Amino acid sequence: AIQRTFSIIKPDATKRNLTGAINAKIEAAGLRIIAQKRIHMTKAQAETFYGVHRERPFFGELCEFMVSEPVVVQVLEGENAIAKYRDVMGATDPAEAADGTIRKDFALSKGENSVHGSDAPETAAEEIAYFFSGLELVG
Ligand code: CMP
Repeated sequence: AIQRTFSIIKPDATKRNLTGAINAKIEAAGLRIIAQKRIHMTKAQAETFYGVHRERPFFGELCEFMVSEPVVVQVLEGENAIAKYRDVMGATDPAEAADGTIRKDFALSKGENSVHGSDAPETAAEEIAYFFSGLELVG
């Protein structure tokens, strides 16, 4: 079925001018970028967005990183978009990511891993609604 997923091009990638290269991989996989904006997240936004990770040892570092530079938030649409984008991203740890994936080609570490993608339909809907209004989604 056609799905929507939420994506973030993270600070390590925007800083290295990789927005276009990452979008090229997204589009080559058949995903459509139906909304996109560059924002500088606030600490409060990052902490709320990553709220499920609040108890993890890397939570503080993760939130600091996400506000360190601008990010590009996006909504991607396509057949099986959630799983498809996870395939395009590759494993969280770039050392474990498959050839040709975004993280294999661009990520620096488990933390500075270039992109985020939703893990399930419910989280995709929540994450999209957190950053975009319905009017901004142009499918
Ligand atoms: P993301 O999909 O954005 O959601 C949670 C993030 O936590 C994950 O990507 C990683 O970037 C980050 N993360 C996971 N493990 C670690 C770690 N060991 N150190 C720092 N960040 C991590």
